[in-house]
Amino acid sequence: MIPYGKQDIIQADIDAVVDVLQNQFLTQGTQVPAFEKAISEYCNVEYCIAVNSGTSALHVACLALDIGEGDLVWTTPITFVASANCARYCGADIDFVDIDPVTRNLSITQLAEKLEIAEKANRLPKALVCVHYAGQSCDMQAINQLGQRYGFKIIEDASHALGAKYQNKLVGNCQYSDCTVFSFHPVKPITTAEGGALVTNNSALYQKATLHAKHGVTRDDSLLEPQYRSVADGDWYYQQIELGYNYRLSDIHAALGLSQLQRIDTYIQRRLHVAERYQHAFEAQSTTLPQLTLPQLSVDSGWHLYVVELPFQLRKLAFDYFRTHKIGVNVHYIPVHLQPYYQKLGFKQGDFPHAESFYAGAITLPIHPNLTLPEQEKVISCMRDFLTSVSHQLNA
Ligand SMILES: Cc1ncc(COP(=O)(O)O)c(C=O)c1O
Repeated sequence: MIPYGKQDIIQADIDAVVDVLQNQFLTQGTQVPAFEKAISEYCNVEYCIAVNSGTSALHVACLALDIGEGDLVWTTPITFVASANCARYCGADIDFVDIDPVTRNLSITQLAEKLEIAEKANRLPKALVCVHYAGQSCDMQAINQLGQRYGFKIIEDASHALGAKYQNKLVGNCQYSDCTVFSFHPVKPITTAEGGALVTNNSALYQKATLHAKHGVTRDDSLLEPQYRSVADGDWYYQQIELGYNYRLSDIHAALGLSQLQRIDTYIQRRLHVAERYQHAFEAQSTTLPQLTLPQLSVDSGWHLYVVELPFQLRKLAFDYFRTHKIGVNVHYIPVHLQPYYQKLGFKQGDFPHAESFYAGAITLPIHPNLTLPEQEKVISCMRDFLTSVSHQLNA
């Protein structure tokens, strides 16, 4: 099966991991700080904390922004469930902003309209989790302007978008947001197996996120609560000042990430080449065959996913056709508000029509740095054959 996404592991990655295994520290050694430094330098951002998943990074982002019971967080329905769950972990309510059918990211127009209504109802969100779907950045400047006007915090969920650019700068510089989170799951732009990171230019936010990711325990003098100290305390002394979590990344994972990060730009280039090749092949056939809506060909996307839209009655047929031909297509995503957990909170079919109609036709074709030319050709010809076969069916 040709997978839709896959990690690239070379001997240097293996050597980096083996090195850690042969050293003293499997965790809390030198590799995590080195990886954090490398990520912040790459993104041109002040602070980075590496954690054990993108989900953990989203959770500590919410905690560091003091999101809790009674608060409201908004995100897009076209994302992985973690973008919404992070607010629920903190006891906050969640709502969604429908997508723009062209960018597939949350719609700025819909966001502005929803904010206007929310202001009148006195129920503005405390934070917005904006997801750079498939590796293409949201319009962060526009979101930031709305954030300033209505006073909400901005978390960029860049799980798909390490190495992507917005306004010619790398995603993660946090120019227009409070913080950005990344995921390093194996299908993502680089991998640590499981892993994630939060980056920010805000030192207080960084400090809080770090505390929450490390049991709420600190040895930092400026944070220690003096009334709990005793003269008998020595260098071993630490305090737990919050109810934190163990979200630490291990040195084994960080070493893999550090090694992978050196190839990020090559990965993005290779993904772009695959996207351009698909785009060229599919554009050429779209006049005679059933309509195929392609993603925007943006040189700044990280091309984490390549998602085409088919007329909705063809999507399941296409999915089965590709899978039968050993092409591991996938679907990203079932709109989050339609998940049973969220329907039980009151969301229902019809709430976010653009997201729902996008989902009905979406199919993710394979794209990853090591997708070979014959594999790309196989995907292209399989799509061509499928569309030809259904066009006969449709015209019959
Ligand atoms: C948009 C988005 N946000 C968050 C996550 C969660 O990341 P992780 O799997 O590292 O917890 C994912 C992972 O699939 C994702 O795609």
